[in-house]
Amino acid sequence: MTATTTPAPTIAKAPGRVPLLGHVIQLLTRPREFFNGLRDSGDVVTIGLGPARAYVVNNPALVHQILTKDVRKLDKGVAYEKSAPFLGDGLLNSSEPTHMAHRRLLQPAFHHHRIADYSRHMREAVAERTARWRDGQTLRLDQEIHGYAVTVVCRALFSSGLGDTVADEVENSLPVLLEGVKRRIAFPVGWLEKLPTPANRRFERARERLGSTLGGVIREYQRVGGEEGDLMALLLAARATDDSPAPDEGTPSGHGRTYRLTDEQIHDEAMALFLGGVETARDVLSWACHLLAEHPDVQAELAAEVDRVLAGGRALGHDVLPELDLTRRVLNEALRLYPPAWLLTRRTLTDLDLAGHHVPPGQNVLFSLYTIQRDPGIYARPDAFEPDRWAGAAGAALPRTSFLPFGAGNRGCIGEPFAWEEMLIFLAAVTHDWTLHSVPGHRIRPARSPMLSPRDLPMTVRARKHP
Ligand code: HEM
Repeated sequence: MTATTTPAPTIAKAPGRVPLLGHVIQLLTRPREFFNGLRDSGDVVTIGLGPARAYVVNNPALVHQILTKDVRKLDKGVAYEKSAPFLGDGLLNSSEPTHMAHRRLLQPAFHHHRIADYSRHMREAVAERTARWRDGQTLRLDQEIHGYAVTVVCRALFSSGLGDTVADEVENSLPVLLEGVKRRIAFPVGWLEKLPTPANRRFERARERLGSTLGGVIREYQRVGGEEGDLMALLLAARATDDSPAPDEGTPSGHGRTYRLTDEQIHDEAMALFLGGVETARDVLSWACHLLAEHPDVQAELAAEVDRVLAGGRALGHDVLPELDLTRRVLNEALRLYPPAWLLTRRTLTDLDLAGHHVPPGQNVLFSLYTIQRDPGIYARPDAFEPDRWAGAAGAALPRTSFLPFGAGNRGCIGEPFAWEEMLIFLAAVTHDWTLHSVPGHRIRPARSPMLSPRDLPMTVRARKHP
């Protein structure tokens, strides 16, 4: 009998490639439409990034394989590498073995019982913010949510009053820093970054100010101490409990559990939490509020759910969140339609086999969560806001590989439980006391940004009357 070998599947080239530029124009002008257009071109397709090439993975099962089983065969690639000199080498950027050593260190801060403790900060933060709202006022809801997201991460990091000192600086500096990093990634020309342009000066000032505020607060925290179990205590305790000799400070101990962090590493991990945790939560909550304003029927149903759960003056806290079923489905649908980190990037460290498609080492690999989560083969009416698609048996049967807003595997979002807690508390608190109304004539569009953020979100808020 003759052995038959199945020929390796060919990897299609995306149409529309322009010499030298590749697909850069499509990527800059209509990025999400461009990736959606590739969905039917094959499980793996190549595109041109200028003269370079990238592999786009369309098949969700292969994306999941990359994020889980093959995680060690790839690092996070060029965008993250480029941001490290500006934003530090925390969890978002770092490579192995440092990444896993630090992830194990931070993981306990995201355990169930810790999240329950943070819910107090979240409830207080939303109450402080909405206390300033006036009936009928039109406000920039995206900025309100940004302030909330900054406050809750800062108070979780430094549970003492020090959190608020950092929060003010983060709220002002983070958007300037992220904008600067985006520019530096898009135009990676060293001398351009050194020109004394107003934008470069703003970037440098923001970086220095945030760095020195954070450094000062960390030193003050070390002096006065904080609450047991907040994130900073964890980072500092990890350093304090390891009494190994100084020479291997800042390197993994070999067991991957006990680890001494340098001051710089502590700073970088705090930055990674700001970078990973603030804009993402702001975006999802902003889109969710926008969707509710556009669907008053769902908003009314949501308010009824929150009223029912909080009836009799029951406090909005960790223990009531499992009962907020529709609130969770609304957020699920916002995460599906508008995953903030919609395009994930990787780079192969070794040969990669994707169901017979061969990707050599050193290649850029991209996948669009936006495309996967709007696949008409999985989601009926994929562009429609239908929270009920997540209800009951039909909702439970939706394949998890086609819903990855937090990524997956050990590079998946460490902050996911924290994000759920802060989003549920915000949405429930706001819909309990307010109704949200779009501003007539103002179209909400995604910003030109690597993240899927609304450009701005003006919203009129009206106070609800409770009998
Ligand atoms: C709705 C809110 C959020 C979304 C949609 C989100 C999404 C994601 C995604 C997709 C990744 C994986 C990126 C990749 O694989 O390339 C990630 C990683 C990460 N996220 Fe989140 N995130 C959210 C909130 C948070 C929060 C609240 C925190 C912290 C307080 C956080 C901290 C991080 C960190 C540190 C990483 C890197 C993890 C690692 O590589 O080990 N995120 N996030």
